[in-house]
Amino acid sequence: MIRLEKVCFAYEKEIALRYVDLHIEKGDSLVIQGPNGCGKSTLIKLLNGIIFPSEGHYFYKDHEITEKALKDRQFAKWFHQQMGYVFQNADTQLFCGSVEEEVAFGPIQMRLPEAEVRERTEDCLRLFGIEKLRERPPYHLSGGEKRKVSLACILSLNPEVLILDEPLAGLDEKTQDMLLTFLKDFHRAGKTLITITHNRQLAEELGTHFAVMNEEHELKMV
Ligand SMILES: Nc1ncnc2c1ncn2[C@@H]1O[C@H](COP(=O)(O)OP(=O)(O)O)[C@@H](O)[C@H]1O
Ligand SMILES: [Mg+2]
Repeated sequence: MIRLEKVCFAYEKEIALRYVDLHIEKGDSLVIQGPNGCGKSTLIKLLNGIIFPSEGHYFYKDHEITEKALKDRQFAKWFHQQMGYVFQNADTQLFCGSVEEEVAFGPIQMRLPEAEVRERTEDCLRLFGIEKLRERPPYHLSGGEKRKVSLACILSLNPEVLILDEPLAGLDEKTQDMLLTFLKDFHRAGKTLITITHNRQLAEELGTHFAVMNEEHELKMV
C-alpha cells in the first residue's frame, strides 16, 4: 500500500533521509524508533505529502506522490483523506473557534451531507470523551485536551492510515490508556498504523512491524 524506493531528502544542506526503502501493507502496524534528529519526523512529513523526495520515489496505492500530482485538487483531497496525521505539536493543527467546529471541519470540507457531518462529529467527540469541551476554543485547552481534539479531528475523516508522532508524550496515564485502547481497536478494524515512539510498552503492544533509523539517516527493518 505504501512504498518508498531509495528516498532521499535534505533541508538546504542538512541530510534527513538517506536512501530509505520501505514497504507497508494494508493492516500493518509499523513502529519507527531512532535517536533525536535521525529523520523520523521528516519521514512522516514525506509520507503525508508535506515534503517530497529529492531523490527516489514514493507510491501510495500505486500512485506516485509528487508535488505535481498533489496539485490536482481531486487527487490531493483523496490522498489527504486516506492519510490521517497527528502532529507532534497539536497547536499547529487547531484553528477553529470551538472544539465542535474543529471536529466538524474535515467532514464539511469533504462535502458530506449535514446529517453525516453531525453524526461523525458526535461519534468522535464521544470516542475521546470530549463532549463537554465542545463549546470551548481549542487554543485555550490543556496539552492533553488538545491532543484528544486533534485525534477526534483526524478520525472524523475516517482515514485509511493513521500516522502518529510520539502520541503518548505529555498525556496523563488515563489518557494514555484510552489512546492505546483506541489505537488497538483501530488496528483491529483492519486499518494501517505508523507510529513513532520511544515508549517501549506502546511499541510492544501496538507494533506488528518495526523499523529503526540511525544517525546516518538510514532506515532498517528489524
Ligand atoms: N525545517 C528544517 N530545516 C532544516 N533542518 C531541519 C528541519 N527540520 C529538521 N531538520 C534537520 O533534519 C534532521 C532530521 O530531523 P527530524 O526529522 O525532525 O528528526 P527526528 O524526528 O528523528 O528527531 C535533523 O538533523 C534536523 O536538525
Ligand atoms: Mg521528531
